[in-house]
Order: sequence, then C-alpha cells, then structure tokens
Amino acid sequence: MSDHLEIAILAAGIGSRMRSNKAKVLQTLAGKPLLGYLLDAVDQLDPAAVHVVIGQDAENVKTTFAHLEHINWVHQAERLGTGHAMQQVFPHLKGTGRVLVLLGDCPLIQPETIRGLVNQDADLSVLTVDMDNPFNYGRIIRQGEQIRRIVEEKDTDAAQKQIKEINTGVMAADVRSLGTWLSQLTNDNAQAEYLLTDIVEHANAGGKKVSGWKVKDPVEVTGINTFAQLAALERALQSKQTEELMLSGVQVMDPARLDIRGKVTAGKGVRLDVNVILEGDVTLGDDVDIGPNCIIKDSIIERGALIRANSVIEEASVGPGAIIGPFARLRPGAELAEDVHIGNFVEVKKSRLGKGSKANHLAYIGDATIGEGVNYGAGAITCNYDGANKHQTVIEDDAFIGTNVSLVAPVTVGAGATVGAGSAVSKDVGPNELAVARGKQVAIKNWKRPRKGDK
Ligand code: UD1
Ligand code: CA
Repeated sequence: MSDHLEIAILAAGIGSRMRSNKAKVLQTLAGKPLLGYLLDAVDQLDPAAVHVVIGQDAENVKTTFAHLEHINWVHQAERLGTGHAMQQVFPHLKGTGRVLVLLGDCPLIQPETIRGLVNQDADLSVLTVDMDNPFNYGRIIRQGEQIRRIVEEKDTDAAQKQIKEINTGVMAADVRSLGTWLSQLTNDNAQAEYLLTDIVEHANAGGKKVSGWKVKDPVEVTGINTFAQLAALERALQSKQTEELMLSGVQVMDPARLDIRGKVTAGKGVRLDVNVILEGDVTLGDDVDIGPNCIIKDSIIERGALIRANSVIEEASVGPGAIIGPFARLRPGAELAEDVHIGNFVEVKKSRLGKGSKANHLAYIGDATIGEGVNYGAGAITCNYDGANKHQTVIEDDAFIGTNVSLVAPVTVGAGATVGAGSAVSKDVGPNELAVARGKQVAIKNWKRPRKGDK
C-alpha cells in the first residue's frame, strides 16, 4: 500500500429516495448507522486522514460520531453532486500520495477489498462488480484493461443499459492528478450535477491509466438509496451472521427469524428459538436456551440458564442455571447469581440476587441487594423512589417476603426473617423476626349485605 493514504467519505445526503429528513448515513443496518460501518472498515487501513463530507442533518451526524476526534468534517453547503462533494474535500488533502473515495451509503465494504483496490498500479482505480440487475448504477465502459468511461443510468443508451459491470462508487486516485480532473468537471449531463464518475473521462483524455478492481460479492458494495434496499441488505447481512453463528455450533430454530444487532459470543449447546433479537455485546454460556420473542441487549447469560418466552433483558447478568420468564424484564444493573428464578411480570433493576433466590410472579425489585435463598412473594414491591431520590433495600439470606409487601426503602430485612402478606414495611426487620404491618382483621357476626333497592 502507498505510504500516504487519505480517505474521503461522501455522506452529505438525506437520501431523497427515502423521503426522510435524516442524514442517510444515520439510517441503521443491524442496529448500527451506515457511516459507522465505513469508519470501522477504514480504521483498519491506518489512514493518514479521514475526511467526511456532510451537509443535510450535519449536526446529527457529528453528534453521533462525536467520540471519533480524528475525523475531519467537511461541509458541503449545497449538494451539487458527488464530484462537487469531492471538490470540497480536495483543499484538505495533502498534495502527495493517494486518496480513497467511499460513498457513505455503501456500508459493507471490507478492508481487504479496499486494500486490493489501493494496491492497483494506476493513476485512478475503480472498484467494480458484476450485478445481475445493474439498474440505477453507473455502467463501466472498458477497452481491455483500461476503463474509458462511467455512464450514469440516466445517461445510458439501450446498449449501455445491458452492461452488467457497474461502478461501486469506490475509487482510489493519485491526489495530484485528481486535482486536475476535479477542476475539469462540468454539470452538463442528465442530472445537471457534477459527477465524480466523469473524472474517468478526464483521466483518459490526459493519457492516464485507469484500472478496475472487481469485487466478487455484490453484498459488499450494495448502495442504499431506498428503504426497500436497506431492508434487503439487512436481510442479507442477518442471514450471513446467522449462518456464521450456526456454523459455530448454535442451534437456531429458524434462521430467518433471528436478528443480531451487535456481537454475539456463544458457547456449546446454545439454542435460540424464533424471533429472538440480540443487541450490542451478548455473551451466551454453554447450554443456554433462549425461548421465543426474547430481546437480549448487552448482557451475559451464563451456562445452562433458561430464558423463557417474551423476556426482555438489558445490561444484566444471569447466573448459571437461572430460569427467567416467561414475560420477565431485567433492566440495567440486574445481577442474578446461580439458580435464581425470575418469573412472569417481574421487573428487576440495579439489584443483585444471591444464589437460589426466587421472585416468581408480578413483582418489582429495584435498587436492592438480596441474599441467597430468599423467597420474594407475588406482588411484592421495593418502594425505592420517594419522588426525589432512590433508596436501597437489603434483604438478607433466607428471608421470606410475603405477597403484596411494600418495602419502603431504605430498609433492611434480616436473615431468616419473615414479612407477612400485605405488609408495608418502613422499619428494619431483625434476623429471624416475623414482621406484620397491616390493619388487623375485624369480624362482624351475621353481617347483612346491602340489597338492591335499599335506601
Ligand atoms: C453513485 C455513482 C454511481 C454508482 C453508485 C454506487 C456518481 C455520480 N454515481 O450513484 O456511478 O454506481 O453511486 O452506489 O457518483 N453525496 C454527497 N454530496 C452530493 C451528492 C452525493 O455527499 O452532492 C453522497 C451521498 O450522500 C451518498 C453518496 O454521495 O452517500 C452517493 O450519492 P448518491 O446520490 O446515492 O449516488 P448514486 O445515484 O447512488
Ligand atoms: Ca447511492
């Protein structure tokens, strides 16, 4: 690879064909903005500089990638075409070496492919691909090895429409020559735009070598102009990821009904039922079983845990052998030890539950530290919020919290203690005590129920 390589990513559009007000490069594929894919890919090439052309919805783009301080954002006030976008970048380039141009709406290009292109010995090299359906792409006009022209769809004649080799939009150019070509662009074409693709003709006119580098897999260079294309690429990417997961030994009940929006690390004997969504960093230990319709985000599920249908788990850790759901919700900071059971309509937030503790029905556990072997009854609630601040609840080992208990935090229930059903507990309960905090039952003999018509 040449020593001085700069990158230009053209990303100023909102995607008029999406009829959206959002920058097109912020549309997501498998949960990640399109521009994120390109920035990750070029990162591996160790470029001297990365310039990104932005225009519509520019502030949102910058905010989304604010953590990447090395990016040089280039503003294109008016979108007069890809050639015009590149003219805005040109003054930022060092006068030496090569520049690689990428289109922001072409997300899945691989670093290996870019290396192949950049290593071409030519003044200008164009990444091409054969597409079964080349409609809407620029067509490559060749004379042997030399690329003579690129003709945009709107400018093609009947014969050119038949050409299957298309311009992916990715090009590598000698910086000095590029300056000359860019200064020669006009908007004399069907789109009345300054087309970057026209630099090919100018390079030819100047007697320069223009080579093509063909990529095999069209998925890598599919451009996204419409939501239909975005959805199709999403499916292609999902099936590729799922295939890899299955090859690594995960049983996927229906590959068409799994969505991975991030990175999954899975052990042996893992099974994923239908309509599972895995987001962010998800780690699944050996023999983990995920039931249908579960969403798991940035979480660790340890060996042998069973996640039953319709559970939603986010930034949580689930210990070995635990049983979660159906219809459970684990929110950020839920840390469950071995063999914990969390049943239907139970919500856990920022709380730790020790080994073997159970909350099987209709309960809320927030800002709590719960020991081992605790039984947390149906309808029991930690009242952790006083309207201004959050407070902690501590429940020690082997405590028994009856049904419909309100634990008014801050409060501690000691080891082995029992809290009677329906109690509102606002004072600490000592170890092995029984606490009952509810109205006494009253008995009225021979009570006559009111009847209809009584005044
Ligand atoms: C472009 C190519 C076409 C190629 C196709 C591959 C040109 C003239 N055409 O067509 O040959 O087959 O990509 O996907 O280059 N952009 C700007 N500023 C502008 C115009 C565009 O930054 O003024 C950005 C867009 O935001 C987008 C990218 O450049 O990310 C490509 O523009 P788009 O309008 O999608 O080009 P295509 O018509 O797809
Ligand atoms: Ca495009």
